[in-house]
Amino acid sequence: MERTISLPREGIFAAVTDGDTRLKFLRDGQWVSYDGDRTIAIHSPVDGSLVGLVPALSTETIDEVFQRAHEAQKGWAEAGLEERVACLYRAADLMERHADTLVDLLGWEIAKNRKDAREEATRSAQYLRFTAEEGRRMHGEMMRGDAFAPFARNKVALTFRVPLGVVLAIPPFNYPVNLAVSKIAPGLICGNSVVLKPPTQGSVSGIYLTAIFQEAGFPPGVMQVVTGRGSEIGDYLTTHPLVNMITFTGSSTIGWRLGKVTGMVPMLMELGGKDAAIVLNDADMELAAKEIVSGAFAYSGQRCTAMKRVLVTDDAAWLLLKHIVPKVEKLSVGNPEDDAFVTPMISQEAAEFVQELIDDALAKGAKLLVGNRREKNLLWPTVIDEVTADMRLAWEEQFGPVLPIIRVKDAAEAVRLANQSEYGLQSAIFTRNIDAALGIAHQLEVGSVQINGKSARGPDHFPFIGVKASGMGAQGVRYSIEAMTRVKAIVFNLHEWQGFSGL
Ligand code: NAP
Ligand code: G3H
Repeated sequence: MERTISLPREGIFAAVTDGDTRLKFLRDGQWVSYDGDRTIAIHSPVDGSLVGLVPALSTETIDEVFQRAHEAQKGWAEAGLEERVACLYRAADLMERHADTLVDLLGWEIAKNRKDAREEATRSAQYLRFTAEEGRRMHGEMMRGDAFAPFARNKVALTFRVPLGVVLAIPPFNYPVNLAVSKIAPGLICGNSVVLKPPTQGSVSGIYLTAIFQEAGFPPGVMQVVTGRGSEIGDYLTTHPLVNMITFTGSSTIGWRLGKVTGMVPMLMELGGKDAAIVLNDADMELAAKEIVSGAFAYSGQRCTAMKRVLVTDDAAWLLLKHIVPKVEKLSVGNPEDDAFVTPMISQEAAEFVQELIDDALAKGAKLLVGNRREKNLLWPTVIDEVTADMRLAWEEQFGPVLPIIRVKDAAEAVRLANQSEYGLQSAIFTRNIDAALGIAHQLEVGSVQINGKSARGPDHFPFIGVKASGMGAQGVRYSIEAMTRVKAIVFNLHEWQGFSGL
């Protein structure tokens, strides 16, 4: 018989489930048993246990959700800033208080180890507080007309940032809590209502997260959740006439699709990556190896910012690999509840895809240094040397625990290969030469460059940008708030006005 996980049902989560496994639907601020006939069974990637049955919402129910979000948004925008700040603070406190529940859910549902899952919960609480404070600090401008033309001396403009309306937030499976919060919080602080469409593998966590927002006191309709498979309801959601802004994180494939189907709706998109670590001959190899290994293999490499290739000269490769290989051999492999560093991948298909990339590289002459062992969707951390441009592993996003080493003749070739990728999320440069670091950083076609550190999105108030196939727009607390508001100007035409003195 199928093993079933007993979902948390205490305290604020009492109303979220209908029995042990069926998740409810949030209608107008109340958790109700979903009356539709379709559910999606969420199984654990760890051992196949049933985590829960989530509603597969019908288009009629989705219409209802957006209508409610549309109606609730105006009142929320008119609520004082202090009320919005207070709600975010309460959500942050609840997030910390219920971190253990989130840690369990993330372990069961997406096989994230306890340490990383806890960090996801605490980072999200901090995100909520920082967003509340950033909301207090955001302000418009006063502009004088005569700065442009003397005849406009009697004109004064005041600019405000106003909400866009209903924000549709779509996070990916690898951070179902944090990449949801980093969309919901900036959306809400400036007076939007938000509809969360969680990743299917991650939707149980998304529903529990919504319960935390409910408990924090956001008015009904201001923060809601819609569940269902992206392949079935994605187009319906993203082309819905009541959606005023979309914030999406996920694969470039779905990103391209959104770009095609959505028309003129403003969008923020953070997509895939193939982040390169460029290791120069003078680098501190111990430091570079430490950063590259944790960057490549944390959460089994299922991070957009994972180090997905290393570009290093023949002269330096032996020393770098001398530091990398023993570190990889020491990584623990196993289950999330035992806090293994490398845990099962999200699905069997995902593991098979990574295996294909490994097999292709080895068949074409690359050298296996460590790993290439697999039990179902659990893949041991793998390092492959002498990966060349004719191999898929050199270009395709593996999103799994395999690190290709690509030999280059010099820094110029490293930059050329780094830029040849369709992706442009981040890159890392390891060197002791600050001039070389700056020179290379300026040439790299990516959103951010890390000097002597692995790629990473955080700290979360830093700008996070993807260029080329890696995205559109900038995230990061203030940048996200800016993207979820528009500028509105009120111009005073002052006919008795004598103009300003000073500037
Ligand atoms: P994905 O398959 O693109 O899914 C992302 C989200 O989009 C999920 O919620 C998914 O729902 C939804 N979706 C699927 N089809 C849709 C459609 N037609 N319209 C609207 N939404 C749709 O990506 P993933 O497998 O979850 O995540 C892995 C990918 O995300 C990798 O490429 C990774 O690099 C990228 N990623 C990028 C960043 C970044 O910040 N740059 C961060 C994390 C991940 P369902 O689950 O129901 O299909
Ligand atoms: O997976 C994509 C995330 O945006 C990466 O975030 O660098 O904090 O792991 P992270």
